[in-house]
Amino acid sequence: MQDHLFNDLLNAVKSRYDATPDLQEFGAWPQDMTFREIAPNPLPAIRQIKKWQAPDPVHIALQNVIDLCNWKQTYTEEEVGFGFLQDYGYIELFGPDGHFLTNELRGYIAYWGRGLYYPWHHHKAEEIYCVLSGSAVFEVDTAPARTVHPGDCQYHASDQPHAMTLKSAPILALVLWRGDGLADLPKMQET
Ligand SMILES: [Fe+2]
Repeated sequence: MQDHLFNDLLNAVKSRYDATPDLQEFGAWPQDMTFREIAPNPLPAIRQIKKWQAPDPVHIALQNVIDLCNWKQTYTEEEVGFGFLQDYGYIELFGPDGHFLTNELRGYIAYWGRGLYYPWHHHKAEEIYCVLSGSAVFEVDTAPARTVHPGDCQYHASDQPHAMTLKSAPILALVLWRGDGLADLPKMQET
């Protein structure tokens, strides 16, 4: 089976976690993770990720397992538009619904293509992004917009509204969730 490719990806994420104090402060590495088989679910965006050459070890480990991942999209075409859904997707590597099951923390790897605007949204769980490749501009309700690059982390409090704009580069990010609402999904701001 292909478990070893998912284990390689998890090990690459753990190495990034071990090298990033902000991630360690956010939450302890889950001790109860168990791998489970989930059906692959390819999305249009994986064509872009496959072509994207970058040095990050998580980026490369993801490319090695990309066709076996259960890719997801939280949003509908009505919410974000057709183009957004062609160039966006994420996997839940570990968590309540992940390739590795755990209820201690949720770990996503998420991709957005260049030029996208990810509108204001929020969720109950606290969140930290760690940029793996590319860059983006983050907006939150309480601080000036901030451009993030590989290695940068961005924290969002429970229910804090946030938005993201992609300029000339795509972004690949490791995203951790903790606390209440761990098993929920993000919601767009009502306008
Ligand atoms: Fe978020």
